[in-house]
Amino acid sequence: MSISVPKVVLIGGGQIGGVLAQLCAIERIGEVVLYDIKEGMPQGKALDIAEASRVDGSDVRISGTNDPICLVGADIVVVTSGMPRKDGMSRDDLLTVNAKIISEVAENIKQYAPNSIVIVISNPLDAMVTLMQRVTGFPANRVIGQAGVLDSSRFATFIAWELGVSAKDINAPVLGGHGDTMVPLVRYANVAGIPVMEQLLRKYGSAEKAKDVMDKIVQRVRDAGSEVVKLLKTGSAFYSPATSAMSMIKAIVRDSKRVLSVCAKLNGEFGVKDYYIGVLAKLGRQGAEQVVEFDLTKEEKAMFDKSVEAVKTLVGDMDRLGI
Ligand code: APR
Repeated sequence: MSISVPKVVLIGGGQIGGVLAQLCAIERIGEVVLYDIKEGMPQGKALDIAEASRVDGSDVRISGTNDPICLVGADIVVVTSGMPRKDGMSRDDLLTVNAKIISEVAENIKQYAPNSIVIVISNPLDAMVTLMQRVTGFPANRVIGQAGVLDSSRFATFIAWELGVSAKDINAPVLGGHGDTMVPLVRYANVAGIPVMEQLLRKYGSAEKAKDVMDKIVQRVRDAGSEVVKLLKTGSAFYSPATSAMSMIKAIVRDSKRVLSVCAKLNGEFGVKDYYIGVLAKLGRQGAEQVVEFDLTKEEKAMFDKSVEAVKTLVGDMDRLGI
């Protein structure tokens, strides 16, 4: 009898990679390997996490390495290698420096883990996922990006604070690129199934005030990454991206078919073909198994299209730079 343990390799052992490694251990994901080019750092973090296993009951195999051969046998590869932005930078400002890193990492994944499912977190997200798929040549369902789970969680959190309820009971999808043009779907945001706008209307007794409150929430979602960068001064958000990636890993490993907001390649859905963009997709053993389509109003579609254009521009920049 052979019982296989899922193997997750984390490429990039920095802020997000480190937190994600610990989450994988706590969630008892199986075998976890932390890889980074910095000597000693992934080994040190892995050792530190492993030494907590008696206390957290994690009971997993965790190791750190600087050798890309660790990718052999990986079921899931999560890529966070690359620079985070500094205050005043947009995610797009990271394009050239991170593209070089992602290309190199993608070559290793292609060579050592040809059957893996790849989750990219490095920014600018939509372009980096595009590049990852181009270089690996993997089928689109096996190369996805994490951004929407986090953007949706931010949207849900701000709504929860406004309504004084648990964020667990909010569903608030965000579509589009992971940038200033992202599209928080106000009409579909609900608290335990009840439209959030209805609740805001009851709270404030005025449609105008309810809209004003929601507009501010939507803007805060779009600026949420920068808000954290400004406060941290060095680096960008890492707890929430790591936790968001964890939910994707669990959905894939457990084949749970969760419907999550992820960066997936469209094949005609929402009128878009051959571009990676944030949409709702069903996650399971095959990765992004299905993009979930639904109706958008004219206004929502216009916002989505604008976001697609922004991603196209970024991908066009990549092409122009010969990346
Ligand atoms: N191979 C492997 N790791 C690399 C490589 C490479 N070629 N180049 C850089 N790294 C590593 C760095 O050594 C560093 O440890 O990637 C790690 C990135 O970690 P942090 O600098 O702490 O960045 P983090 O906050 O984790 O964010 C990573 O995710 O959300 C995005 O914008 C963010 O692009 C950034 C990425």
